Amino acid sequence: MEKVRIGIIGCGGIANGKHLPAIKRNGNFEIVAFCDLIKERAEKAKKEYGTESSKVFTDYKELLAEKDITAVYVLTPNKSHASISIDAMEADKHVMCEKPMAKTYTDAKKMVETAKKTGKILTIGYQNRYRADSTYLKRACTNDDLGEIYYARAHAVRRRAVPTWGVFLNEEEQGGGPLIDIGTHALDLTLWMMNNYEVESVTGSVYRKLADQKEQGNAFGEWDPSVFTVEDSAFGFVKMKNGATIHLEASWALNTLDVDEAKVSLCGTKAGADMKDGLRINRVQYNKQCVEKPDLASGGVAFFDGKSEKDSDIEQKVFYNAITKGEELVVKPEQALVVTQVLEAIYEAGRTGKTVYFD
Ligand SMILES: NC(=O)c1ccc[n+]([C@@H]2O[C@H](COP(=O)([O-])OP(=O)(O)OC[C@H]3O[C@@H](n4cnc5c(N)ncnc54)[C@H](O)[C@@H]3O)[C@@H](O)[C@H]2O)c1
Repeated sequence: MEKVRIGIIGCGGIANGKHLPAIKRNGNFEIVAFCDLIKERAEKAKKEYGTESSKVFTDYKELLAEKDITAVYVLTPNKSHASISIDAMEADKHVMCEKPMAKTYTDAKKMVETAKKTGKILTIGYQNRYRADSTYLKRACTNDDLGEIYYARAHAVRRRAVPTWGVFLNEEEQGGGPLIDIGTHALDLTLWMMNNYEVESVTGSVYRKLADQKEQGNAFGEWDPSVFTVEDSAFGFVKMKNGATIHLEASWALNTLDVDEAKVSLCGTKAGADMKDGLRINRVQYNKQCVEKPDLASGGVAFFDGKSEKDSDIEQKVFYNAITKGEELVVKPEQALVVTQVLEAIYEAGRTGKTVYFD
């Protein structure tokens, strides 16, 4: 198979935790350049995932000037997603950009416009769509098994798991806290399942209530309250033009036992579904309330080794097939744009106390 020549921009957590191992497993990409502001990170990534001839840069514009690069991965903090992605498309590269698409709706819109203008592929790293439970539920939704979905909950709630590395607590770099960081995954899944991107209005509340506490019990070690300039939880209420409602809950730290991340609960006229104990589809059947739990792990084969394809592997495959065969993207930029718009509206509603109406 023809190898696609790519460049990696940002060689930190998500590069090493998701993309680089998945690109290696895929085998159809050749990473010809690595870029990070911290040169050692780019060099380390080259050593582990590159070839002898892979180049190392600290300025992404130099990487983009390389004519033989077909696509780039934008794996930097949120602040630079839009500028780097736009420059990359203008430089004739396809783009896989990490979530969230951008800090603001205006920036995200420019990304979509640039993709249209240049004809380049632009996709966003919402890998949760490729999970076995998500793809099963998406098929059920597409098949109308749930009927009209008129109420949904998008879950992104951690009890105490504030990220303490990188710039996650920095408003200027990230554009927000848990809402833009993990709320984005939950809302993306929800809108995709509902196949509904027509938003009427958004209201919400945004809190910074636990960020200054000294006794933190945090899963990722102590955070520094003095640099915690984002919210620690946010809640949104979204009304769709067809009358459906979505409740979005996002938190890195909340006094609750009801934790769920990158999950969705759907209530339709024919059935409901949630991901609270594996994927569960609930309905009334033969006049009894019943719950269906698809076996997504083994396929019922006793000797199965459990090595099913990872979500991050499917993400790479979809990107590769879009580039080389013109196959349809799963995560379309226009969809990620609506996610960005809703998140921004929740922040605005939190600030002003007013409902935000969409056109
Ligand atoms: N899909 C997911 O589930 C998921 C999970 C974690 C993070 N992310 C996203 O990935 C992005 C990066 O997060 P991370 O955890 O890897 O952060 P990180 O801080 O670990 O890594 C970011 C890297 O980018 C580098 N960098 C910053 N600006 C740069 C620039 N202009 N040019 C080149 N390099 C630059 C930094 O030096 C750093 O090494 C964020 O947008 C985050 O939301 C997505």
